[in-house]
Amino acid sequence: MKWTKFLLTALSIFCINGLMAQGLGIIPEPYLSTKGNGLYTLPKTISISAPSSANAIAETVANQLKLTTGKTVNFSKSEPTIEFSIIKDDVIGDEGYLLNVNDKGIQVKANTNAGLFYGWQTVQQLLPAAIYGKTVSKNTNWQLSHCSIIDKPRFGWRGMMLDVSRHFFSKADVKVFIDDMVRYKYNRFHWHLTDDQGWRIEIKSLPRLTSVGAWRAERKGKWMNIATPAMDEPKTYGGFYTQEDIREIVAYAKARFIEVIPEIDVPGHSMAMLAAYPNLSTTPHYPYQVNAGDEFMDWEGLNGHATARIDNSLDPSNEEVYTVLDKVMTEVAPLFPFEYIHMGGDENAKNNWEKSANVQALMKREGLKDQMEVQSYFVRRMQKIINSKGKKMMGWNEILQGGLSGDAAVMSWQGVKGGIEAAKQGHKVVMSPNDYNYIDYYQGEVTAEGKVYRGLRMKTTYGFDPVPAGVDATLILGNQANQWTEQLQTMRNVQYMTWPRGLAVAETNWTPNEKKDWNNFTKKVEKHFEVFEAANVKYAKSMYDAIVTTELNTKGELILKMEGEVDNLRFYYTIDDQMPDNYSDEYTKPFVIPADVTLVRIQSYRDGKPIGKLLNIPIESLRNRAKKVL
Ligand code: ACM
Repeated sequence: MKWTKFLLTALSIFCINGLMAQGLGIIPEPYLSTKGNGLYTLPKTISISAPSSANAIAETVANQLKLTTGKTVNFSKSEPTIEFSIIKDDVIGDEGYLLNVNDKGIQVKANTNAGLFYGWQTVQQLLPAAIYGKTVSKNTNWQLSHCSIIDKPRFGWRGMMLDVSRHFFSKADVKVFIDDMVRYKYNRFHWHLTDDQGWRIEIKSLPRLTSVGAWRAERKGKWMNIATPAMDEPKTYGGFYTQEDIREIVAYAKARFIEVIPEIDVPGHSMAMLAAYPNLSTTPHYPYQVNAGDEFMDWEGLNGHATARIDNSLDPSNEEVYTVLDKVMTEVAPLFPFEYIHMGGDENAKNNWEKSANVQALMKREGLKDQMEVQSYFVRRMQKIINSKGKKMMGWNEILQGGLSGDAAVMSWQGVKGGIEAAKQGHKVVMSPNDYNYIDYYQGEVTAEGKVYRGLRMKTTYGFDPVPAGVDATLILGNQANQWTEQLQTMRNVQYMTWPRGLAVAETNWTPNEKKDWNNFTKKVEKHFEVFEAANVKYAKSMYDAIVTTELNTKGELILKMEGEVDNLRFYYTIDDQMPDNYSDEYTKPFVIPADVTLVRIQSYRDGKPIGKLLNIPIESLRNRAKKVL
């Protein structure tokens, strides 16, 4: 429409001239926005107008406003408080929207219901955080800033993955995970449904996948550092989703404009499947059980050179494997309307394939020169099966090993290298590099967090651009955060690891790269902590914790350095075991830790008040992280 183009030009000039009023606090930052001077006050009776095609959205809006304001909400076309309209606009695309708040009320316009829905997500962010609650707010004199917004996403794929194999999460938990994604305009839920520690989707023609594969011995404690269960130990821990459950979740996501991508992770990561059907491995006589988190693999050299002490790979030379996978996909494909099925393909140890006479015979028969080509053979067979069900295949970047063909798409997790290579070969790519988007990695001071693998600060996550230089941007479908759950047994803990880093990924997903601004973002994040509180979401305040690094000088002394991840922090510390406050020593520059000190405690302050966690860092940890001799 001419009108939007005019507004776009006007707003662009406004922004370029630096006149744009900052401070709407929206995450992800809109494409273009301007804040007006006035305020609109929600009336005593709220009326909503929407086209009949958007009835479901209008109902959602009405229910949330009734619940949190206690006001009467009705549907009326005359002088509506909130007016949703479908328009034809060639600027905002399939998911964008136009939003105006003025003296007349709130107007949301879009080409599609998805756009209206995202407009509503933004409206909620303009309201008091109590809109996210479940009860009537004490103060319901709600006001919104006048504003004008033209918004649309940078990427069509704005994903978040949840691993439900390492720990099983109930349907109710999965819905909470989806609800949390919705607020920040995510639109792809990648469901990691199978792994060594549990098979979580009912396959009616293969009942042992869930009667055996979904259950393991219960273990608490540190992942890969726990005792291997005896074979006869009861397998009581786990669970799975029936096909009815899956349909319910897919419909729940769809109503929130989220597509669900199922992952069936093969040929590696298949211990749960092999516990059910050991004959599908090259070591069929091994007494398999579902892995309980005990160590069974040397992961060194993940690019095809990991070695499995217990073989967790399917046998690529066994036709029965493909028959079984065909049965699996026959039942999986109709449950998920989305165009892609994810076949995993990651971290497949080849050491047991190498030893197998049958695999060697396969190599001879098919002219495969090495194990990478064997992997490629398996992937091609898998692709044929998935395509035969009317779906396209996606896999982790290891599906590139030995060559990839057809319309397969690649999810790049070992950095962006695989994504770049895939795009160069013409494949579509979703970026989810571990260096930036693995939100299972601990997010602050290691001794104060649940440690898994390695650390990843939100600032690093925020700095990611999913389109590397020289890559055809049209092949980058988008960006994704991955939540692996080795050490996460509850949805509360999943939330803690996800938020606020999920906000950083949301902004990378949606906002033009040139509009991203770390300092502005961190201010917004602090406002969104109120959203998490109101929505009862557990979240991390690790961004307030000092980044503590050490170095050894040539005398062997330990030098300690602190940095802030966000602005305006002061760090007070003690080295005498006492609790720090803002009369303790303040960190100003790197200092030598005296030889007999055993513990450093650090408390961040802002504006004279403690903020973030009290850090208690043992000297061994400081020594272990010491980088280099000066
Ligand atoms: C992965 O993290 N193994 C995909």
